[in-house]
Amino acid sequence: MKQIDRLRSLGLFDARVPRYTSYPTAPVFSPEVGAAEQARALAALNPGEPVSVYLHIPFCERLCWFCACRTQGTQTLSPVESYIGTLEQELALLRDTLPAGLRMGRMHWGGGTPTILPPALIHRLARAVRAVFPETDDWEFSVEIDPTMVDRAKIAALAEEGMTRASIGIQDFDPKVQQAIGRIQPFDITRRCVEDLRAAGIVSLNADLVYGLPHQDIVRLDDTVTKVLELVPDRVALFGYAHVPWVSKRQKLIDETALPRELERYALATHAADRFVAAGQVPIGIDHFARPGDGLQRAAATGHLRRNFQGYTDDTCPTLIGLGASSISRLPAGYVQNAAATAAYIQRIEAGKLAGARGHVMTPDDLLRARAIEMLMCDFRLDRAALRETFGAAAETLDPVVAEVAAHFGDFVALSESGLRITAAGRPLTRIIASAFDAHVPEGMRYSQAS
Ligand SMILES: C[S@@+](CC[C@H](N)C(=O)[O-])C[C@H]1O[C@@H](n2cnc3c(N)ncnc32)[C@H](O)[C@@H]1O
Ligand code: SF4
Repeated sequence: MKQIDRLRSLGLFDARVPRYTSYPTAPVFSPEVGAAEQARALAALNPGEPVSVYLHIPFCERLCWFCACRTQGTQTLSPVESYIGTLEQELALLRDTLPAGLRMGRMHWGGGTPTILPPALIHRLARAVRAVFPETDDWEFSVEIDPTMVDRAKIAALAEEGMTRASIGIQDFDPKVQQAIGRIQPFDITRRCVEDLRAAGIVSLNADLVYGLPHQDIVRLDDTVTKVLELVPDRVALFGYAHVPWVSKRQKLIDETALPRELERYALATHAADRFVAAGQVPIGIDHFARPGDGLQRAAATGHLRRNFQGYTDDTCPTLIGLGASSISRLPAGYVQNAAATAAYIQRIEAGKLAGARGHVMTPDDLLRARAIEMLMCDFRLDRAALRETFGAAAETLDPVVAEVAAHFGDFVALSESGLRITAAGRPLTRIIASAFDAHVPEGMRYSQAS
């Protein structure tokens, strides 16, 4: 059987599996965990250990049809300004809940489009966060930037507030693809944005690309990769397009007949990956690339790569505090997600309560499986000794799963005394292999496809 047919027979094109940016994954969070558990877990944090802080800005001026992120369109700034006021109220609630002396090692602004904020609101928000979470000396501040929704004044404001890393959305530069996804973004505008970011002192620049978009073919994607390489990114994320119109209604505007079919999709991902590697970028995990010497590459090389809600990260801080609508906090006791709809989030905060609406309390078994899945997603291996060191004899409860995976996936995995390794040929199956360790996948749950 040809390699691709073997991958297909193991579910490469049919399996609907999570991207494992957390374990358990957000769809299985329960409404029984909410603001009360959130307050208890926050109050119990160790003030000596810096935390990471995530702020979600769920607004965009234009809504791209392909996008599955939690956001809403607005043509005026008034809902955005009033949302910043709500974030300030949430920060005040956190200040009253958290132990004194807690510091922030990392801050990330995501969305939506954080660069919808004008300079005055950028300063107001950054200062409000810092007043509650003073930063450590070596803190890092990263922001998701839509190149069509930013200018020099906004970049200067972010740089003044300490932005060290920027992530720009590109997706694809081809005009026909851009038209088909409702996102027009000329190369010149993107290049100018990159130049402005570099001039403002940004040391690490990430570019987001998506394969599997309507009308994309090898020639078009190849041209996009050439243009992206001209921008000399420090990191690249190459996401497979998740077509989930039952979750993201705006994707109904996407012409499904123009979507590349499974083999084309696979060829697109492979071609783009080959080009980044040929250009000297190091593949990281299942869908990232990084310049040698970049923090993400160093983390991967030294076994410190981690996975969080933004994807791969070199942030090893165990606690992430999420603010804003739909944000998820990762606390030692478990996960708590703020109310997802912006109106519901605002209502909770205005009632003077934390906004946690769903969550999950981690059991010892969850902690073990979470680490095993993270190892597979980050390092393509499950290190038995490392698991035993952290979890003791309990680590052995995974042995039957390891044996099953070894039998089922054949030479796409290699079993040894030290553990389980996903071979180079088996890497496209990583999410499927990781899902074998997931004890929470509910029957019939539909995620995006694995390839
Ligand atoms: C929250 S968006 C923020 C980007 C920013 N607003 C912009 O437009 O440049 C982060 C990234 O998620 C990715 N993304 C969004 N929807 C996706 C989908 N349906 N499938 C795959 N990736 C997607 C895109 O690459 C996007 O740049
Ligand atoms: S890709 Fe960015 S700008 Fe477009 S809808 Fe999604 S978050 Fe908004």
